[in-house]
Amino acid sequence: MTRKSSLNEMIDYITSVDSERDLLYNASEFIKSHNEIKLTSSSGSSYVFITEKEKVYQVFIKYFIAQRIFNIVKTLYSESYNINFLVTGGYPIISVPFSFNIGNYIVKFQNYISRLNIIIWEKITPLNSMNFTELKVLLERNWIKFLWDIGLALHGLHSRMLLHNDSVLDNIGISPEGNFILFDFDGTRFMPQRTFQKDFVLLADSIENKENLISEQQRKLLTTWTLGSSGAKAVFNSEFSYRMTTRNKRPSLKERTIICKQILQELCNNKIIGI
Ligand SMILES: Nc1ncnc2c1ncn2[C@@H]1O[C@H](COP(=O)(O)OP(=O)(O)OP(=O)(O)O)[C@@H](O)[C@H]1O
Ligand SMILES: [Mg+2]
Repeated sequence: MTRKSSLNEMIDYITSVDSERDLLYNASEFIKSHNEIKLTSSSGSSYVFITEKEKVYQVFIKYFIAQRIFNIVKTLYSESYNINFLVTGGYPIISVPFSFNIGNYIVKFQNYISRLNIIIWEKITPLNSMNFTELKVLLERNWIKFLWDIGLALHGLHSRMLLHNDSVLDNIGISPEGNFILFDFDGTRFMPQRTFQKDFVLLADSIENKENLISEQQRKLLTTWTLGSSGAKAVFNSEFSYRMTTRNKRPSLKERTIICKQILQELCNNKIIGI
């Protein structure tokens, strides 16, 4: 059976029922009998089907949840993202305008089949598919990038007035391009600005709760990062001060602004160092 007909068969099969309960039952029965598709249990509002190729199908029980997540994705992908970095620690404070592409830091949306309450996502490597040691080494080697990438993802959501609401390690993965990305928007909601710090706290807690996952030095950076209004700001400060101290002569304000932009660009183009 080809993958395509397998998917069509799956959709026909799981939707040939009247009740929500039967739909989920059929979905799980179907998956059990097709070993090319793996079913990952979900917290209740959806089923996640992971195919061996590059796609992931999330089947929602309720039409309005699928619709809400599709609206969130539409909001996120509209327009470009700008961030204004305030680099502190030296006088005068430098402000560096910078723009980035949110699609590089959240899981890529591929399609919405509204008739079937299905959202199709790009397949990524979730961090929860790694064992403790693999994850520890990965984070050790890519700590700045981790804070940077997830900082941009959260900044993107927050600048669209969206609270992710479940920004924990379990909902972070690695994209095929080699970035850390945020996924699982089941709990995401439009919110007033003052609640946004919650996302940073949730993530920091999910990391700290795993005993010995990060070193003391990583923890220090994490703390600075979560206290910043934008995660990327604190990360940038540490990278920046590192670069600045390696230069003999203190560069002019103009030069420093140029260096800032270069570092930001570099950080954005950085790929995860494998384990
Ligand atoms: N795009 C994806 N690519 C690969 N794996 C994915 C993808 N989306 C989800 N997964 C896997 O499926 C799991 C469940 O998906 P998700 O986080 O969206 O649902 P959930 O409601 O949080 O479910 P759970 O409570 O089981 O974590 C994830 O933890 C991850 O391992
Ligand atoms: Mg999840």
